[in-house]
Amino acid sequence: MQGWRAQLLRFDAQGQALFDSDGLLVTGLGTDGVQRVVDAGPYRAVAARHPGVPVTHLAGRLIAPGFIDMHVHYPQTDIIGSPADGLLPWLENYTFPAETRFSDPGYAAEVANVFFSELQRNGVTTALTFATAHPASVDAFFHEAHKRGLRMMGGKVLQDRNSPDGLRDETEQSLIDTETLIQRWHGKDRLGYAITPRFAPTSSAAQLRGAGELAAKYADTWVHSHVAENRDEVRWAAELYPGARSYLTVYEDFGLLRGRAVYAHCIHLDEADRALMHERGAAAAVSPTSNLFLGSGFFNFRAADAARMLHGLASDVGGGTSFSPFRTMLAAYFVGREGQSKPGLSLAPSHLWWLHTGAAARALGLEGVVGTLATGSEADFVVLNPDAIPLLSRKAKRAENLEELLFALIVLGDDRVVEQVITA
Ligand code: GUN
Ligand code: ZN
Repeated sequence: MQGWRAQLLRFDAQGQALFDSDGLLVTGLGTDGVQRVVDAGPYRAVAARHPGVPVTHLAGRLIAPGFIDMHVHYPQTDIIGSPADGLLPWLENYTFPAETRFSDPGYAAEVANVFFSELQRNGVTTALTFATAHPASVDAFFHEAHKRGLRMMGGKVLQDRNSPDGLRDETEQSLIDTETLIQRWHGKDRLGYAITPRFAPTSSAAQLRGAGELAAKYADTWVHSHVAENRDEVRWAAELYPGARSYLTVYEDFGLLRGRAVYAHCIHLDEADRALMHERGAAAAVSPTSNLFLGSGFFNFRAADAARMLHGLASDVGGGTSFSPFRTMLAAYFVGREGQSKPGLSLAPSHLWWLHTGAAARALGLEGVVGTLATGSEADFVVLNPDAIPLLSRKAKRAENLEELLFALIVLGDDRVVEQVITA
């Protein structure tokens, strides 16, 4: 066992922040070879329960759960900041050409390596990730995640129509490849497979049906897609699936709404859609930097809460503009202030933080596994140093309570404050 003494942030099961200004986190190796949280809380009380355990004292630092990115595209690492007049031209002009290159396993491995280094530098310890339509891109992703011992989910993109040569897959083979990859990677140590239809406009009904069948057969895999991001996209989905009540119900009709089904964006939903998401236990991956960059619209936090729709935060790189959870939380705050029906929402700093840790874990079906530093959970955590940035250092010293400290980090922090990332 070992102990880490610093300021300590955890969350309870209700999403309330637990904060110790002088805290102690004790971790220990489980029989499965994974480091877990053995105990945590105020230094004096916890230390007294574990005499003889070596303690690293990290004065002035904040220990917090590793961040969880609910939706990101590792093959889009190099197209961050590619401007376009909205989602569909962005996909056609930048995204699809960039993803076509991932048929080359060597190239995929190189980008996967850069991607995981970026996640780590930014304090992200778990992510649900798109690969590309090429099975080799999935192998590259999981191979690198496994080497680094991370809890990561990903999968091969399914897209058998409305996609260019070199990226479009073939319906039957795409489903065979998906099942092969599930058997190869799902449940291997901390890796998990996500059945990944890109979005309804690029999948035939036969491909979505097959994806739904795999989602039923492999019930603890993830399902990962996009829905209701952009008005042109919503119109296009309605043209292609005229029988569906809404864009979301295209997925419902093929058995793709269930627990561990994660849909990026969920902006242009109606009340019936939100109720259906809640009923099925499916989750929204809120991607505010992407939504602001592409001009897609604003996630409705109030309506999501009212419908009790599971949701958490995501970068959506490369539509998103940063791997940094601090940038994503700040963008979510802006969306709360300006993107809701009036009056604007002021999402509390600790709530923004919860949405990028414990709430994201819950939405992914990983409650109690990661995201809160609860006793028994996996010891994935970050050590943050506010003194790494001069202006933040001044501001953090003036913080009179936890909310002020967290807000200072959200507004002024970036990868420079991520001093250590410790994974189980
Ligand atoms: N919808 C379908 N594909 C994509 C993608 O790669 N990024 C985003 N943001 N939306 C999508
Ligand atoms: Zn996306």
